Amino acid sequence: MLQFQTSDQYKTRLAKQFSRAAIHYDSLAAVQGEIAKDAIALLPSQCHILLDLGCGTGRITQNLSAQSNHVIAVDLALGMLNHASSSIDDKTISWIRGDAEHLAISENTVDTVFSSMVLQWCASPHQVMYEINRVLKEHGQAVLAIMVDGSFSELKQVWAQLDAGRHVNQFYRSELWQQAAQDNGLRVELSTQCYQTWHPNLRTLLASIKGIGANVLINNDADNVQTANTAFNRSTLTKLETLYLEQSDELQQLPLSYQIAFLHCIKS
Ligand SMILES: C[S@@+](CC[C@H](N)C(=O)[O-])C[C@H]1O[C@@H](n2cnc3c(N)ncnc32)[C@H](O)[C@@H]1O
Repeated sequence: MLQFQTSDQYKTRLAKQFSRAAIHYDSLAAVQGEIAKDAIALLPSQCHILLDLGCGTGRITQNLSAQSNHVIAVDLALGMLNHASSSIDDKTISWIRGDAEHLAISENTVDTVFSSMVLQWCASPHQVMYEINRVLKEHGQAVLAIMVDGSFSELKQVWAQLDAGRHVNQFYRSELWQQAAQDNGLRVELSTQCYQTWHPNLRTLLASIKGIGANVLINNDADNVQTANTAFNRSTLTKLETLYLEQSDELQQLPLSYQIAFLHCIKS
């Protein structure tokens, strides 16, 4: 299912997968909506210029717009931006194609940075935090919800019983994100929360990841295992599902965990 690649190839592939997913994203991304809602609760009640980093289809951006004078909505995937800008008519939002690791935004220009379920796709937490600190004005704030280590642990466990390859994304630890923010001069409050989704079978569980475009192997060094040995075919799917059912609840629903780090950062 997953292939390792260079940084440019990786970002092109990521943008392509998310662009493809744009049309169905909102109907499939329930847990992502819940996480964004919890992140929004950490924002100041009114913001002047807010940057939504990885705006996706813009459904969260719309909510952010209601509490900001101007929103700069950035995303890597053109398909996401096209979907957002054609379905949302809000003159206070600027839709911009861009990369969280290399923002085309001047320094000291943004009051608030918001990002939900995006930054785990970046290879370098240090580079992300450098950029956030750079664009923030003095005393500006960032609220970041990031998938971290512990996410998809059930899927990882069942794959580990078949071979030692890397079939599932390995996410950075929350402390690593915290350290990267601090190293770049941000004050940080960190909290974590686990969200779970439940699925009737493995096919729908995997579809919940693929359907929103999130089935790309992250180019990071969160672990050093880079190969996937077992071919992903019908027989593998059956084996995985049997193993998964052994750790599922009595209703025979399959769980999938999203471990989320909420970082509330202030530029001092
Ligand atoms: C799971 S979606 C989240 C969208 C939205 N924030 C939400 O909560 O519904 C992840 C989004 O991050 C974008 N993305 C991934 N890597 C990015 C990067 N390096 N810079 C900007 N956007 C990125 C993807 O294109 C995708 O639209």
